[in-house]
Amino acid sequence: MTATATAAASGANATERFKSDKLAGAAGTPPERVDLLAREVLDAVHATIRRHKVTYAEYNALKAWLISVGEDGEWPLFLDVWVEHVVEEVATEHREGNKGTIEGPYYVPGAPERGAHGSVPMREGEPGTPLTWTGQVTSTDGTAPAGAKIELWHADADGFYSQFAPGIPEWNLRASFTVDAEGRFEIHTVRPAPYQIPTDGACGKLIAAAGWHAWRPAHLHVKVSAPGHELLTAQLYFPGDEHNDDDIASAVKPELMLSPRPVDGGETVEYGFVLDPERS
Ligand SMILES: [Fe+2]
Repeated sequence: MTATATAAASGANATERFKSDKLAGAAGTPPERVDLLAREVLDAVHATIRRHKVTYAEYNALKAWLISVGEDGEWPLFLDVWVEHVVEEVATEHREGNKGTIEGPYYVPGAPERGAHGSVPMREGEPGTPLTWTGQVTSTDGTAPAGAKIELWHADADGFYSQFAPGIPEWNLRASFTVDAEGRFEIHTVRPAPYQIPTDGACGKLIAAAGWHAWRPAHLHVKVSAPGHELLTAQLYFPGDEHNDDDIASAVKPELMLSPRPVDGGETVEYGFVLDPERS
């Protein structure tokens, strides 16, 4: 995001949101597991220091940078951009249905309900190419699970998210759809823009210092749920985006690529979801 949305403000929102939504549900991890994981992570850090003969100046730069990640509220951003994609890969490797990908830091539960056919909340004259998206939610056995729900959130045509950038109505481009009896839905929205993750905070400093770029390709975020099925968290991408191949968050998968077609006044796209039943 750019000058109108500071990294510190956006990061503080993401940190507060994480604390209220996710932390309460964190499972107690047994000491043996904490011991194993903490030791292996530290072993990997020690090995890197020995292999590359890390200096005190570099160590102190790291220490200062880690402090600034917290001060800027960017731990959710840092972890979701550079770590979450592997956690997601491990968590969903057993699935036969849809591939998913990372959630990222900008999901907010409780978006307005829109039924099976409807439009996401938008501003008057919302910028961006109008996009009509149709599809069906099915189970791996081909049946349509009752009560399936699609929560959709995405950036606007300037790359900003409501509730994380100032001046945007609270639920702009965020909605929840409940599919019809056959699992079908029709969603009206606009095509989101690619965006850079915040570059004026600690994550931006790392990106600049390492000579990386900060871009994420344009994407729609979804959470697809149905009673008795595993929650699918995914992002859908648009062909031709120059950052599909080098997403800063490593979240693009070929199965999540849309095929939009131009129509009068916008674009139309078809994409459905196959959910895995919950494992017993
Ligand atoms: Fe995003």
